[in-house]
Amino acid sequence: MKDFTLENLTDAVVEAYTTNAASPRQAQIIGSLVRHLHAFAKDVELTEAEWFEGIQFLTATGKKCDDKRQEFILLSDTLGLSMVVDAINHPKGGLGTESTVLGPFYVEGSPIVESGANIIKRDIGGEVVLVTGKVTDAAGKPLAGATLEVWQTANNQLYDVQDPDAPEWNLRATIKAKDDGAFSFVSEKPTSYPVPTDGPVGQLLAAGGRHAFRPAHLHFMVKAPGHETLTTHIFADGDPYLDSDAVFATKAALVAKFELSEDATLAAKYGLKVPFTTMHYEFGLTAQ
Ligand SMILES: [Fe+2]
Repeated sequence: MKDFTLENLTDAVVEAYTTNAASPRQAQIIGSLVRHLHAFAKDVELTEAEWFEGIQFLTATGKKCDDKRQEFILLSDTLGLSMVVDAINHPKGGLGTESTVLGPFYVEGSPIVESGANIIKRDIGGEVVLVTGKVTDAAGKPLAGATLEVWQTANNQLYDVQDPDAPEWNLRATIKAKDDGAFSFVSEKPTSYPVPTDGPVGQLLAAGGRHAFRPAHLHFMVKAPGHETLTTHIFADGDPYLDSDAVFATKAALVAKFELSEDATLAAKYGLKVPFTTMHYEFGLTAQ
């Protein structure tokens, strides 16, 4: 029979999970996870009470999840794990627009609209902004057939899925870029906002003495035939939280200026009053 001890236990568990694993990759992942978990417990000399607190924390995280709330993604984001995975999988080396976290508020299947659409479904006093830009390849050549899924907070710091009073798909759409890669849409200037703190992640942030705020941003998921999907944000220049994002997702190249425009022709084209706020950004996608 086996005589398990603190000294031989880790090797025994790894062997048990890797000898007949379904694939070499699964053996590598489970084996490494076990080694790091055991090393963590030994490193901090985890007490039984602390182990149980961890179990309760993960249980509460799972219970907080539903079809609109994803506490595990938020946990991954606030621990910096999402950005580690993003950086491993999207090394840019200067090519194309940088990626950042998906975040917990993405919803698949937003309404497909033509470039130029207004995606504001409710007026609660947000600053109207005309967003313009282009989708190109990594060398700056315009790409045909691109789409941009966009989602963002309203003026009350909430995404539509967090706000029972918000119309469905408010400030959320899939924009069809034109054949020359150009796109535009009318939305609101996003606000900085706290990630939800009424669950386990809020407790974790408080335990770390951290604030919960994210700098104002629009989320984008940009797709074009033959190119890698780009998941990223565009952050508002000058936001006070750019230096302390609760989910560590900021990158200097993803910051854009929101500026006032007096262009009466453009205002008339989009049904806006002069002066109006504009933001312009060009997305470069890397080839598959
Ligand atoms: Fe966000």
